[in-house]
Amino acid sequence: MAAKNLLLLFISLFLTVNLVSAQLRRNFYAGSCPNVEQIVRDAVQKKVQQTFTTIPATLRLYFHDCFVNGCDASVMIASTGNNKAEKDHPDNLSLAGDGFDTVIKAKQALDAVANCRNKVSCADILTIATRDVVNLAGGPRYEVELGRLDGLSSTAASVEGKLPQPTDDVNKLTSLFAKNGLSLNEMIALSGAHTLGFAHCTKVFNRIYSFNKTTQVDPTVNKAYVTELRASCPRNIDPRVAINMDPTTPRQFDNVYYKNLQQGKGLFTSDQDLFTDRRSKPTVDLWANNANLFNQAFVNSMIKLGRVGVKTGRNGNIRRDCGAFN
Ligand SMILES: *[C@@H]1O[C@H](CO)[C@@H](O)[C@H](O)[C@H]1NC(C)=O
Ligand SMILES: *[C@@H]1O[C@H](CO)[C@@H](O)[C@H](O)[C@H]1NC(C)=O
Repeated sequence: MAAKNLLLLFISLFLTVNLVSAQLRRNFYAGSCPNVEQIVRDAVQKKVQQTFTTIPATLRLYFHDCFVNGCDASVMIASTGNNKAEKDHPDNLSLAGDGFDTVIKAKQALDAVANCRNKVSCADILTIATRDVVNLAGGPRYEVELGRLDGLSSTAASVEGKLPQPTDDVNKLTSLFAKNGLSLNEMIALSGAHTLGFAHCTKVFNRIYSFNKTTQVDPTVNKAYVTELRASCPRNIDPRVAINMDPTTPRQFDNVYYKNLQQGKGLFTSDQDLFTDRRSKPTVDLWANNANLFNQAFVNSMIKLGRVGVKTGRNGNIRRDCGAFN
């Protein structure tokens, strides 16, 4: 009896997993818009040439989108009179307008091609654009799975508690990622996205000025880095001022993020703790010494991230305007 139930459980798990991945596939648009990837890439490349921020902003937008109710472009929806949308939750401070603009520009380029007009979801455009910015910053290029629909809801309330915070430790990070089916190693790999991008000074004040009642400075921060951070981020600084997440090679997608951690140069507690915690340290050391292994892990984790909460059938549609429901 028990064995039979177990078998049924296995079969149903297998079916669920299969259904979830079956809807996503490479070349999903081969019939409707065969040049989708080239069109998006050209638009992304043009925007990157105009402003470098496009790169970290798009990558972060993707992460925020996928972590709140799945990769369904719900993060792109603008608030209206009766709905405060995801993008207006206070955790959005790190979302620069350039990420949104990348998707809007790529959508415009697609809509200018007759057969592609309103055929590609905003969620898929963001997925392709994210792959492209990683590659344009010197990171690996990987094949993307496509076939997501755009979500039908976006609320600021749904963001609460879903996104990692700068002060999170490995326990907290692991549980947030586990909720999206991502493992400890996948969490460490996706944290590597902090090889690019910036953060607001106020997010690190606790580590350099007011760690706890008896100690001003977080003892895990490299001494020279403390001096550097205090110089860039004086106590009375404008809260909008931002600094690089990777102090060594901020514009390059590489494994230097992990080398920084080995030297106490992780910007957030949530970065540095990956090196402090004995469960994640071996992986940090491994990837600090082997860029190829990191690249592989990052690619696999991005593909897995792209499967989170995918909408199909009546749970989604293809938006005509990425910033508004049809
Ligand atoms: C973030 O939310 C605030 C309101 O909480 C809003 O004024 C701001 O435009 C939002 N930022 C982005 C990039 O959407
Ligand atoms: C403050 O942090 C230091 C360094 O981690 C630690 O040794 C000390 O016990 C902490 N003090 C308090 C009051 O938590």
